Amino acid sequence: MALSHFSTLLACAAAVSAYTFDGITHYAPVNNSFNDLDAAFSSSSGTNGGYYNSSTVADVDYGAYNYCNMPHVRAREYKVPTGYSLEYLEVIHRHHKRTPYASNLFPKEDIPLSCDNTKMFFYAATKNGVESTSIWWKDYVDEDNPMMFVDNGFNSTCQFPQISYGGLTDSAQHGRDIWSVYGDKLKFLPTEFDPTTMSVRVTNNEITSQVAAALIKGLYPDSSDFAVYQQVASQDSLEPGYSCSWADDVRSAYQDTDAWYKHINMSQDLFDELDAISGVDSTDDDWHSWFDHYFDNLSSRTCHQLPLPCNVTNSSQCVTQEMAEQVFRLGDYEYNYIFRQAANSTVYGATHYGAFIAELVAHLKGKLDGTRSSIYRHNVAHDGSLSSLLAALQIDFLRWPGMGSEVVFELWRKDNSSQNYIRVLYGGQPLSTQTPMGVLDMVEVETFIAYLEDLVGVNGEKVYKYCTM
Ligand SMILES: *[C@@H]1O[C@H](CO)[C@@H](O)[C@H](O)[C@H]1NC(C)=O
Ligand SMILES: *[C@@H]1O[C@H](CO)[C@@H](O)[C@H](O)[C@H]1NC(C)=O
Ligand SMILES: *[C@@H]1O[C@H](CO)[C@@H](O)[C@H](O)[C@H]1NC(C)=O
Ligand SMILES: *[C@@H]1O[C@H](CO)[C@@H](O)[C@H](O)[C@H]1NC(C)=O
Ligand SMILES: *[C@@H]1O[C@H](CO)[C@@H](O)[C@H](O)[C@H]1NC(C)=O
Ligand SMILES: *[C@@H]1O[C@H](CO)[C@@H](O)[C@H](O)[C@H]1NC(C)=O
Ligand SMILES: *[C@@H]1O[C@H](CO)[C@@H](O)[C@H](O)[C@H]1NC(C)=O
Ligand SMILES: *[C@@H]1O[C@H](CO)[C@@H](O)[C@H](O)[C@H]1NC(C)=O
Ligand SMILES: *[C@@H]1O[C@H](CO)[C@@H](O)[C@H](O)[C@H]1NC(C)=O
Repeated sequence: MALSHFSTLLACAAAVSAYTFDGITHYAPVNNSFNDLDAAFSSSSGTNGGYYNSSTVADVDYGAYNYCNMPHVRAREYKVPTGYSLEYLEVIHRHHKRTPYASNLFPKEDIPLSCDNTKMFFYAATKNGVESTSIWWKDYVDEDNPMMFVDNGFNSTCQFPQISYGGLTDSAQHGRDIWSVYGDKLKFLPTEFDPTTMSVRVTNNEITSQVAAALIKGLYPDSSDFAVYQQVASQDSLEPGYSCSWADDVRSAYQDTDAWYKHINMSQDLFDELDAISGVDSTDDDWHSWFDHYFDNLSSRTCHQLPLPCNVTNSSQCVTQEMAEQVFRLGDYEYNYIFRQAANSTVYGATHYGAFIAELVAHLKGKLDGTRSSIYRHNVAHDGSLSSLLAALQIDFLRWPGMGSEVVFELWRKDNSSQNYIRVLYGGQPLSTQTPMGVLDMVEVETFIAYLEDLVGVNGEKVYKYCTM
């Protein structure tokens, strides 16, 4: 049986080293193969028990890390706390699997990519005036266009990125699974979507709307003409879209250290091999300052059962499975470093993602003092959103949050009591953190709110202070 995220935990020493900046305390992550460079460069580590080749994991192994389709809450594994009633539910998850971003395409692609099995709708209509036809985008390349093969031009009917057929299928299943727990099992969600107490939110990146559309159909099959919330791009807290150069500088500083460059130096041979196959310019910093681009490109292929890429002029020179796994291990190493290992990663999460955290606190407080009637908020976001949130919550260690990675905040009230508790689920299981709260499984809500307010300040005043400096 593959090791799950949860079973690879090493027993953690009682004394976790801590570093505090302006009331924000960082607790070091647990040590394991994701922060150990020897393990990261050992081919015997393989995929560290993870999956990168399919959306499906057998039931016996459910909960295992699957980059293509991360585990999330579903009825089969969900544990209902006894003696409590659910008061409020907020879900945030990464969009589902997709084509790579254009920036992660090789200069020339060796295979055509077809998205002919999906339709991406994009149109506007007035509320009370003229009607509009429901149009969708048919992307294509034109062989008569002399520019067809320049600048990432290759034979494709996809947008880069767009949610794939498989990713839309996974999105709909995600919606059905949420219903299986919070509708069927707990009877918490009403049988009809109630827009006065429930909402779905997306970012300005259209792939989150593509996911939301399939997800909502899985959750509420009769839904149509459905408004999803979206903040103004320059302020958006979900992606996030607001600018915070102070946070960017904090992160740049800890990625401009020997601790960071060490693994980059150790990766020169690997980069050379990948560049020789892909044709990526070896002086292109975007591709060589981290593994993000190669990771995205290779995992997009393996998650869709496409072959690993070969040299376009020598089809026997290909990226091997071993090379791909090495890239995946280094991707996990980098995510753990950026969002957990670096002493200032918590400060980064608290500011870069602090606006969302401040909103979450307001939602919880509003529920507790009765000023807000919302029972359910659902947010579709990105890996950068989830990893920053998990940096702030100080997950025990971090692998790259894969497609569909989900964090669920549940607010429970103890029966016949006015005491409320928080349970946070990641991958469908209570989130294990290195904070004094430990596993976020029925933590008194006041404790949880106090922790978040240490990070972002009351009403998010720390976020405002640092991000407007
Ligand atoms: C991880 O290992 C380092 C070096 O051995 C040690 O200093 C640190 O305390 C360990 N961290 C945890 C959380 O155990
Ligand atoms: C998919 O990945 C799993 C986990 O690494 C592995 O056991 C399995 O053999 C792979 N399947 C295929 C078809 O490559
Ligand atoms: C990245 O992955 C996509 C999708 O799998 C593939 O078609 C494309 O060729 C890759 N990009 C490059 C530049 O290899
Ligand atoms: C693009 O791919 C399609 C489908 O594989 C193929 O029919 C077509 O000939 C290709 N066009 C070019 C210019 O390679
Ligand atoms: C990485 O390599 C560069 C260039 O060779 C060197 O200057 C630097 O000291 C190395 N850094 C580490 C951490 O190994
Ligand atoms: C591909 O193979 C050819 C022939 O071996 C070689 O000249 C070329 O540098 C390789 N790389 C790319 C990106 O074409
Ligand atoms: C093509 O790649 C293979 C495997 O790397 C290599 O052995 C062969 O020499 C290459 N062919 C040419 C023409 O460069
Ligand atoms: C964290 O960032 C702050 C603000 O830039 C800086 O003053 C502090 O030295 C950093 N801490 C560490 C451990 O790098
Ligand atoms: C809560 O109160 C109700 C009636 O007031 C009672 O029937 C029930 O047993 C109580 N539950 C608990 C867990 O004390």
